[in-house]
Amino acid sequence: MIPAHVAIIMDGNGRWAKQKSLPRILGHKQGVKTVKNIVKAASGLGIRVLTLYAFSTENWKRPQSEIEALFSLLSFFIRKESKELNGLGVCLRILGDLSKFPENIKTEIENVCKITSKNTGLLLNIALNYGARQELIRAFGEMLKQGVKNPTQGIVSSFLYTAGQPDPDLLIRTSGEFRVSNFLLWQIAYSEIYVTDKLWPDFTKQDLEDAILEFQKRERRFGGL
Ligand code: IPE
Ligand code: IPE
Ligand code: MG
Repeated sequence: MIPAHVAIIMDGNGRWAKQKSLPRILGHKQGVKTVKNIVKAASGLGIRVLTLYAFSTENWKRPQSEIEALFSLLSFFIRKESKELNGLGVCLRILGDLSKFPENIKTEIENVCKITSKNTGLLLNIALNYGARQELIRAFGEMLKQGVKNPTQGIVSSFLYTAGQPDPDLLIRTSGEFRVSNFLLWQIAYSEIYVTDKLWPDFTKQDLEDAILEFQKRERRFGGL
């Protein structure tokens, strides 16, 4: 079975650049190319939801120059690829807090989300300025505001950025790091985790297929027998 929802921690852009004695930002540039390929591949494989971790709430600790370069690459990708994404029937959503973004970029990203919102192909979530703890705090705040007295798992889920979506079946992390780095803490409760040493800029459709093959061999028990 093809996993309905695949989430990816796209890590290793900096190491890829370092290996080639290039500035880190060229690693991010190459990483964006991988994003394009993997979105196409996921769409072709019949994955329903693809979630890509692009910028965490902790990534603000990086040098300002890298942050600016990353944002301009990401917003350029979203705006430039909007036609192609639309052509593929992709529906784009952003997980995270866009309020810190420059107004014009925010509006353009929101426009692409709006334009593609009726598409019925791959649902592409890009996690931008995303942190799972912040997402949960925001959800709890909203629940209080709305007077939720008896929260259930379903109610909590419905207050997250991923409301209405299935939880990830498969969580992939590139670059060999065995940690979650504040990604989808609630949603990955029963996700199968796959870590590959491949650096994100080198990650290919074949690597995605290998991860899915490995996923298909796993026995998911969800706490049962
Ligand atoms: C992943 O690559 C992209 C982001 C976190 C924005 P990194 O920039 O973390 O690359 P490494 O981990 O330094 O190799
Ligand atoms: C996780 O990668 C965040 C993204 C991929 C956007 P990091 O490179 O920021 O994670 P750590 O610092 O190694 O945990
Ligand atoms: Mg990293």
